[in-house]
Amino acid sequence: MSTNRLRPRRSCLAVPGSNPRFLEKAQGLPADQVFLDLEDACAPLVKESARTSVVKALNEGDWSGKTRVVRVNDWTTHWTYRDVITVVEGAGENLDCVMLPKVQDAGQISALDLLLTQIEKTMGLPVGRIGIEAQIENARGLVNVDEIAAASPRLETIVFGPADFMASINMKSLVVGEQPPGYPADAYHYILMRILMAARANDLQAIDGPYLQIRNVPGFREVAGRSAALGFDGKWVLHPGQIDAANEVYSPSQEDYDHAEMILDAYAHVTSHEGGAKGSAMLGDEMIDEASRKMALVIAAKGRAAGL
Ligand code: GLV
Ligand code: MG
Repeated sequence: MSTNRLRPRRSCLAVPGSNPRFLEKAQGLPADQVFLDLEDACAPLVKESARTSVVKALNEGDWSGKTRVVRVNDWTTHWTYRDVITVVEGAGENLDCVMLPKVQDAGQISALDLLLTQIEKTMGLPVGRIGIEAQIENARGLVNVDEIAAASPRLETIVFGPADFMASINMKSLVVGEQPPGYPADAYHYILMRILMAARANDLQAIDGPYLQIRNVPGFREVAGRSAALGFDGKWVLHPGQIDAANEVYSPSQEDYDHAEMILDAYAHVTSHEGGAKGSAMLGDEMIDEASRKMALVIAAKGRAAGL
């Protein structure tokens, strides 16, 4: 897996590209990633001026320690190409990824990849360094998610967009992320799992989308806890109050982290002392083998990245 695909993304902060105050404030917040938004957080009348504000914020701001992403408009609008050209020509050196919303098929990823390559060549930037984040926000995108996730080596994450998705499938609910009344199980399970499988099959990260009740932090934790339990790497945050919760929910607990390190130590000890002949060992009452080592490695890697 490329190291870019392992960037921490527990908390991905949405910042409206048209709001200079938010662009300034976001720099001091402890989010793993920021994405400066030219899409739905910007009204059509300010979309063009927002491009300039985003370029300035990327070039002049202090984003150290954060992955810097810009969300452009989707390919069904007339804004996409100019969003990409203005932002990458203007601030390509200070940009890590472009996020493409409402992706419907692999061709839309290839088109963005080709455009990025031309801009990088024209501007003398290293070709292929700028990554792509693909948002799955409608039924067609989900049906094509396997091809989308394999469409470009620039891809780093597949991102679930629950608000647009709920609208796209006519889900009977207005509260994004919450279960629709009347359905007795988890209405998002299938969607999250399809995204997660497509992402993992291509060594990409899987990111959960926004929770719009920004004052309800327990509600955020509960929804985030579900996708974190499945294996998602992080979630969007729309408000500073959601950042700490996301960083915590998508990191392993101290207890799980310590346990994972113990499994790795115990397994390394057994395999090194038996001349490689022994494939399993006991750790207390628990039998551990090569599969346990792999599971422990996932938790340990996330814990080490979180500084546990
Ligand atoms: C995010 O873009 C969403 O639609 O939920
Ligand atoms: Mg959306």
